[in-house]
Amino acid sequence: MSSETIIIGGGVIGLSIARELHKRGARSIAVVDKGRIGAEASWAAAGMLAPNAECHADDELFRLCTASNALYPSFAAELLDETGIDIELDRTGTLVLAFNEQEAEALEEKYAWQRSAGIAVEKLSEDEILKLEPNISPYVHSGFRYPNDWQVENRRLVTALRKYCEINGIELIENTIVESVPSGRRVIVTAGAWTNDLLPDPKVKPIRGQMISLAGRESRILTHVIYSQRSYVVPRADGRILVGATVEDVGFAKQVTPEAIAELKTAASEISPSLASLDIAESWAGLRPFVAGEIPVLGRVSENVFVATGHYRNGILLAPITAKMIADEIWGASTKISDHGVLKASQ
Ligand code: FAD
Ligand code: GLY
Repeated sequence: MSSETIIIGGGVIGLSIARELHKRGARSIAVVDKGRIGAEASWAAAGMLAPNAECHADDELFRLCTASNALYPSFAAELLDETGIDIELDRTGTLVLAFNEQEAEALEEKYAWQRSAGIAVEKLSEDEILKLEPNISPYVHSGFRYPNDWQVENRRLVTALRKYCEINGIELIENTIVESVPSGRRVIVTAGAWTNDLLPDPKVKPIRGQMISLAGRESRILTHVIYSQRSYVVPRADGRILVGATVEDVGFAKQVTPEAIAELKTAASEISPSLASLDIAESWAGLRPFVAGEIPVLGRVSENVFVATGHYRNGILLAPITAKMIADEIWGASTKISDHGVLKASQ
C-alpha cells in the first residue's frame, strides 16, 4: 500500500470519492476493503433516491438529499460514458399510499408542510392511483406521488464505480482489514457501519435492514417505487420486485430471519395482491451506518485524515454529493447547498 491517498472502505461512498478525486486530477489512489468491494450496505440497498418521500422536515438532511438527487442524471450519464455500465436511473417517480383513514390523515399532515416547502408532490385519489398502477390493491384509500423521487440499480452502480477505478488505475485491494489509520498519507475513512474500528468519533451504530426480491413476470406488475406504512416495493427493469426493509438495532448480526421474510412478503401483498403468488428469488440483509441526528458526518478529522460516514438510509442517494464535498474539503473549496437543496458552484 504505497499509494498517496488511501480510502478505507470500498462501498458506494469510498468508490464515489475515489472517482471524484481521480476526476479532479489526483493520482496514486488505493481503495482497501476488508471483504469484496461494494459487498456490504451498498449491495444490500434498495437503490431508492427518495429525498422527498423519506424526509420528515425541511432540514439540513433534506437539503443535502435534494442537492445530491439533482446530481444523479449527470452522474448516471457520466458513468455510462466512462464505463459502459447503465446504472438504470428510473425517473418514473414514487407513490406513498394510505390504506385507511388514519394513515391518510398522517400523510395529509406531511403533504401540507411539504407543499408549503415547495416540494413537488401530487395528491391522488383511489381512482387516480389505480389508473397509474392497475395492480395496486383495490383497498387503497389515497396517496401521494413524488415525481422527483427516483431509483437506481445500486448493484450496477457499485459495479460501474469499480470499473471506473479499474480503467483509471485506482488500486483496489480486497480482503484486507485495515486495523488503524495509516500515517504519512492522505487517508479517507469510508468504513460505513465499521467506522469505529478506525476512528473513535463519530459514534456509528449498525442498523440491520432485511430485504427480499420477488421473481418478476415478463410484463411488469408495477412501475413506480411504492411505499406503504409497513414496507416499500421497488420494481426493477429486469422484472424483479424488491421489498424492504426492516430497521433493526441488533449489532453486527447480518442474518436474515424467517419472520422478517414472511412479514415483508405479507406487507408487499397488501400493496399489490398480484405479488402474493410470486416466488421469493433472494433474501439478504445489510448494515446501515447510523449516527445520532441521522445526518452523515463528512469532513476533516486531522490534517491528512478525512471521514465520510453515517449515511444511514440514504447512502446511495448521497454518494455523488458526498464525493464532491470530500474533494472540496481536501482542496479547500466549499460546496454550498441553498435553502432548496440546489448545489451551488464550488469556490
Ligand atoms: P458500505 O457499503 O457498508 O461500505 C463500507 C465498506 O467498508 C464495506 O465494504 C466494508 O467491508 C469496508 N470496511 C469496513 N471496515 C473496514 C476496515 N477496517 N478495513 C477495510 N475495509 C473496511 N440508501 C439509499 O440511498 N437508498 C435506498 O433505497 C437504501 N436502501 C437501503 C436498504 C437496506 C436494506 C440497507 C441496509 C441500506 C439501504 N440504504 C439505502 C443505505 C445505504 O445502503 C448506505 O447508506 C450506504 O450503502 C452506505 O455506504 P458506505 O460506503 O458508507 O457503506
Ligand atoms: N432507504 C431505505 C432503507 O434504508 O431501507
